[in-house]
Amino acid sequence: MEARRPLPCVLLVEDQENVRQVFLNLLKRNGYAVTEAANGKTAIEQLKKKHFDLVLTDLRMEPVDGMEVLRQARKIAPETEVVVITGFGTVSGGVEAMKLGAYDYLEKPVESEKLLFIIRRAIEKKELVYKVEQLQKELREKYAFDHIVGKSEKMIDVLKIISQIASTDSTILIQGESGTGKELVARAIHENSARKNQPWVAVNCGGFVDSLLESELFGHVKGAFTGAIRDKIGLVQQAHRGTLFLDEISEMSLPMQVKLLRFLESSEVRQVGGSASMQVDVRLIAATNKDLRKAVKAKTFREDLFYRIHVIPLTLPPLRERKDDVELLSHHFLEEFNRKLNKSIKGFSKRAMVLLRNYAWPGNVRELRNVIERAVALTRNEKIQTEDLPFYDSDQRIFQSLGAGNAVISLRELEKRYIQQIMQKAKGDQKKAAEWMGISQTTLWRKLKK
Ligand SMILES: Nc1ncnc2c1ncn2[C@@H]1O[C@H](COP(=O)(O)OP(=O)(O)OP(=O)(O)O)[C@@H](O)[C@H]1O
Ligand SMILES: [Mg+2]
Repeated sequence: MEARRPLPCVLLVEDQENVRQVFLNLLKRNGYAVTEAANGKTAIEQLKKKHFDLVLTDLRMEPVDGMEVLRQARKIAPETEVVVITGFGTVSGGVEAMKLGAYDYLEKPVESEKLLFIIRRAIEKKELVYKVEQLQKELREKYAFDHIVGKSEKMIDVLKIISQIASTDSTILIQGESGTGKELVARAIHENSARKNQPWVAVNCGGFVDSLLESELFGHVKGAFTGAIRDKIGLVQQAHRGTLFLDEISEMSLPMQVKLLRFLESSEVRQVGGSASMQVDVRLIAATNKDLRKAVKAKTFREDLFYRIHVIPLTLPPLRERKDDVELLSHHFLEEFNRKLNKSIKGFSKRAMVLLRNYAWPGNVRELRNVIERAVALTRNEKIQTEDLPFYDSDQRIFQSLGAGNAVISLRELEKRYIQQIMQKAKGDQKKAAEWMGISQTTLWRKLKK
């Protein structure tokens, strides 16, 4: 059950007793917790003592006026919204208050409906701002280096390099198979750079047809092509002062590569159909799961562009080459999904962990994460067991069909039974059987002779 939300707190500052009573009753009736202050001085003391969501203050008071309450509130509690009440016909005071950071102002005589509306909206805005800040904080934490899990030698090397290069402005090329964490690493580099409070813009170069990619990247002017009904700013311009992440850069067509190179050399962009160019300052991080050198040899990737982005190359090792990380990551994801799925799975059985470590992980960390999510969601066991893992099924069937079950039999015996069974399935066709077993026909022939 969700915890009951506390009532929003309002500090009501008004020197006229009778007016204060009217506001007090109105606010209380409408679900606010109200603290009263009969003058500006008490109000400022209250602000120092307690947290308020909102201050509602009269402007004309002696000796400390509402404007001073507002100024102090901005200093003492900048997250608290302030609404001021001006005297009849003195709108200018309200305008000045807004310049000082008041959320809004109301003119006397105040209509209750209007007052309630403004207060509700002010508090909603404050909560929204708070939520956005929370989210940004979470994101920042998510992309801190310590969220890149890994203690294998290969990963430690990667982590060392990225902590060295994060603060520079160098172009980085991240290579690695699908799911090895290229985007995660790119984002972490941004979050640990001097540009962290500036935009992070990620573009999947494989996600657009050519003409579209150009206008996505560089923008276009109205009328540049059918459908360009207004000027549009490009992602490159949006990344100004920040980091531009070009994912799957190998998917870019040769003509687009020329345009990208031109931009990288000049730092100038021109919108499609436009004539003026604009200076843009971005740090580039590119990623690819293809071997770019090969692409250069095959002439699908321009050599000059390759050298332009191959300033600091970073290669993320496939998961099968860092088995220790499999274990660490499995526990990491177990925790994540325990939390998300409200479960309390205790860990992995020994055999399950052996299976996890020895699996080839063609989809790398992403695949591991999916496997753990599925296992946590579906298991009825206290610990994850072999049968909770999707690639277990086939092995288990083989074990059972070979009559081995949990019994310990010799490897030679197991192999004999296995070969017999496959031969049966292949109806004696040695070629087919060898293919199924992933061995050469000669090897099979030798084994059959034994
Ligand atoms: N070292 C790591 N520690 C924790 N999580 C990781 C790690 N590496 C990858 N992940 C997670 O694995 C998933 C895939 O990572 P990411 O999207 O960065 O891979 P990618 O290399 O960009 O893949 P693709 O080439 O398919 O785009 C994400 O959920 C990411 O958070
Ligand atoms: Mg990616």
